[in-house]
Amino acid sequence: MRELNVDLAERTYPVMVGSGLLSSAGRLLARRGLDAPPIVITNRTILKFHGPPLLQSIREVFGDPAVVCIRDGERFKNHETLMQIYRGMFRANANRRSWILAFGGGVVGDIAGFAAATFMRGIPFVMVPTTLLAQIDSSIGGKVAINVPQGKNLIGAFHQPAAVLSDTDVLKTLPERELASGLYEIVKHAAIRSESLMRYLESRLEAIQHCQTREMTHIIVESVRIKAGVVASDEKEADLRMILNYGHTVGHAFEAATDYKRFKHGEAVAWGMIAAVGFGRELGHLRPGEARRLIDLIHRVRPLPSLKGIRLNPLWNALVRDKKFRSGDIRMILLNRIGDAEIRSGVDAATIRRFLRGFLASGGNLEDRRG
Ligand SMILES: NC(=O)c1ccc[n+]([C@@H]2O[C@H](COP(=O)([O-])OP(=O)(O)OC[C@H]3O[C@@H](n4cnc5c(N)ncnc54)[C@H](O)[C@@H]3O)[C@@H](O)[C@H]2O)c1
Ligand SMILES: [Zn+2]
Repeated sequence: MRELNVDLAERTYPVMVGSGLLSSAGRLLARRGLDAPPIVITNRTILKFHGPPLLQSIREVFGDPAVVCIRDGERFKNHETLMQIYRGMFRANANRRSWILAFGGGVVGDIAGFAAATFMRGIPFVMVPTTLLAQIDSSIGGKVAINVPQGKNLIGAFHQPAAVLSDTDVLKTLPERELASGLYEIVKHAAIRSESLMRYLESRLEAIQHCQTREMTHIIVESVRIKAGVVASDEKEADLRMILNYGHTVGHAFEAATDYKRFKHGEAVAWGMIAAVGFGRELGHLRPGEARRLIDLIHRVRPLPSLKGIRLNPLWNALVRDKKFRSGDIRMILLNRIGDAEIRSGVDAATIRRFLRGFLASGGNLEDRRG
């Protein structure tokens, strides 16, 4: 097992990463100021695959936990589910000294974290993230939220967990596309901040795709270190934190332009990064060799769903709906080289639109566009 600390202004919490952590969760969480059995918030998919070892080890140390099972899917990250969680907590006689254990992917983590932030004005929570995305992204930084009809994550809070336990074994049951989706976000962390992580991903990709413990542990720890480093220096989100959104503005537009049906979030971000690489190259950022490296790695992770049939206008409309885009001063995150991202302001909208037209026409193939 590896352990690192996420250092934040008001508090520091440990992130533990390794194989077999579910069955030692109770022991690992003992003596962290948590007492009484937790309220475990999860869904049936996760419970079926991984419930018994976690619940058993919690029971041995803290006593019998209450379990609240929520429905599986992004569309249930809403206030009805939140109310269901509160009801389950009252039924279990939860009080100010209770704590929540969020056991699942980003959806469970976000909504269970929000319940913890708000129940009796805030109680502790622990995250046991079970998707790669949740282990390297949503469990770090303390953002918790639910969706409302007006938009995603619009009701939320900052609430840091007391600890994060990431068991690499649970990733073995993840659908392949979910695993790849998390890997693209790790590629993003490498691209903006760490050439050595990039090299590691390039050389150990097969082992990573087979979820081998050593390799998985390494890339999760490095990725958490990168996100935590950026978040810690800038907890409430300003300039530096913005680089974590590399590939995301255009990625979100790809998701919206296809009604959130064609792409997993990470896949859309992967296309967003490829577009950012192409656009950056036009502006003279990033040498062709470095651009090629990033694009090759993305395609090696898993073939991406195609861009076929996506039209410029819906994509553009989705982009200009983004408030970052509308403010007049368009800022783009571009790479100077692998491991070094920069925020470039004053980018001209017409130039971006022209680039995207060509990008869609080539099906996202940047080589095509040079000829
Ligand atoms: N708070 C943040 O900073 C932050 C950052 C990024 C994303 N998010 C949020 O995270 C959410 C997406 O999270 P996600 O990608 O983990 O999706 P998810 O939570 O929906 O999980 C994906 C699917 O995998 C299943 N699953 C989870 N673990 C499994 C396992 N070990 N084996 C088999 N199946 C498993 C889930 O039941 C679900 O069907 C979004 O709501 C997004 O807004 C939050
Ligand atoms: Zn993302």
